[in-house]
Amino acid sequence: MTHYKDLRSYLNALEAIGEIQRVQRAVALDLEIGAITRRASETGQAAPLFENIPERPGMRVLGAPGGVSSKPGQWLARIALAVGLPASATGREIADAFATARARPQIPPRQVETGPCKENIHIGDSVNILELPAPLLHDGDGGRYLNTFGIICCETPDKSWRSWSIARIMVVDGKRLAGIVAPNQHVGMVRKTWSDIGKDMPFALALGGQPVLPYVGGMPLPEFVNEVDYAGAITGEPIEVVKAETVDVMVPASSEIIVEGYLSRTETSPEGPMGEYAGYLWEGPPSPKPVYNVTAITHRNNPILPISVAGEPPEENHTAWGIPNAGEIVYQLQAAGFPVASAWSPFESANHWFVIAIEHDWRTKTGLRSGELCRRIADILFDKKAGMGTPKYIVVNADIDITDIREVVWAFATRNHPGSQGELVYNDENTNPLVAYIDNAEKAALRTTKVIYNCLDPEHLNGKLPKRSSFRFIYPQELQNQVMRDWSAYGYKGEPDRVQGSGG
Ligand SMILES: Cc1cc2nc3c(=O)[nH]c(=O)nc-3n(C[C@H](O)[C@H](O)[C@H](O)COP(=O)(O)O)c2cc1C
Repeated sequence: MTHYKDLRSYLNALEAIGEIQRVQRAVALDLEIGAITRRASETGQAAPLFENIPERPGMRVLGAPGGVSSKPGQWLARIALAVGLPASATGREIADAFATARARPQIPPRQVETGPCKENIHIGDSVNILELPAPLLHDGDGGRYLNTFGIICCETPDKSWRSWSIARIMVVDGKRLAGIVAPNQHVGMVRKTWSDIGKDMPFALALGGQPVLPYVGGMPLPEFVNEVDYAGAITGEPIEVVKAETVDVMVPASSEIIVEGYLSRTETSPEGPMGEYAGYLWEGPPSPKPVYNVTAITHRNNPILPISVAGEPPEENHTAWGIPNAGEIVYQLQAAGFPVASAWSPFESANHWFVIAIEHDWRTKTGLRSGELCRRIADILFDKKAGMGTPKYIVVNADIDITDIREVVWAFATRNHPGSQGELVYNDENTNPLVAYIDNAEKAALRTTKVIYNCLDPEHLNGKLPKRSSFRFIYPQELQNQVMRDWSAYGYKGEPDRVQGSGG
């Protein structure tokens, strides 16, 4: 297992397997970088590393850092390498890596004297956010976005809780940013601990650090769990942190860019709209969001700003939020004693579905009827951060490869019996406001309806699912092996390719 300690060593490893495309042709900050990145994301091309941005000489931008690859055998390579797995790791292996690290002892960070992020230091008058390469990502966005894949580092006044998370942040002017600070996200909760004592919240925005960090920042860990300690548990060693220049906040030492300052408890500025992960840009006027007042910027030489151009799947919201969220669901349900094999949010669902696979012997292990098992799963998940962001859940037997959307659709179509035990509907649950179809009242209240679709084997089958009529399930293993071995002898050229979900 290799754990890359900075973005550049990780990019070298990705470049060696064809996952990075250096773009040396001059590109415009407004829309061109966004359009190229979006096309690369939608077609599974290598992540573009923009090295020639005439408006920001010496600065670079990395698009699609957590994109999905169309290269055979390395579907999720960018995510796998970020969490220390081989490029060929499957979706289930990656989600499992997040789940198993939760059960290991957490490893607190190690403070170092200095780090690469201090190669250039701008404080006071020399702070100018407009010198950073924040692009206009979509036609219709309310402004240029500096943060779409960096982590906001903040700490409660008593230092008992250090929260690192991702939320979008737009450039307002040379010294101010503004962004989403949802009250049901930890950045909003930590900000409240400062507002309660009449102070603005010190923050640092870490852009382009150790590659595992955005995945940890996107993971719905429970309140009071420090993401940096959990990142240590994933990598097996402490994350190196260094003190910020102007605020008492620790930041990842290898970051490409650090932006520090205070998140105001009173000041707001118009922000948005921005094309978002559900796949839409809701046109309309910007809305007031809290202001981040910037007191210092530090950065590496020739820094690289990683960006996510949010929109229709797949992009980083679906990988860096969806996959760690799957790991957290597995961890929480297993910890509660449920025989859960795996969880996955199909990228095509834009984080609106979670599929949960239950071990085949669930009936004997739990002694429950299928509807009751689904109800208990809802009771656990909807009470936790792990179940906050996603409104629809599909519970299936573990014979389904839940990372293959075709199997998920087939299971939903053929195993869900509409009716009282088929859909368990929960009104008035905690929600993320960016769920695509909710109305303004739901957005304001942060409450909506959630549903669990029960696709487990029904009681009348007495625990015996009908045989699946497919190559993998209906022929003896010996014959399958022979057919695969002799495939070219039958006259076929090349191996058959089940493209989507071929990572298994
Ligand atoms: C690329 C990306 C962009 C995200 N943008 C936002 C955002 O703008 N606002 C937000 O509330 N959450 C956003 N999230 C989701 C949060 O990071 C996620 O809910 C996380 O659990 C929040 O951290 P917390 O659990 O410490 O509160 C984003 C996640 C990713 C991966």
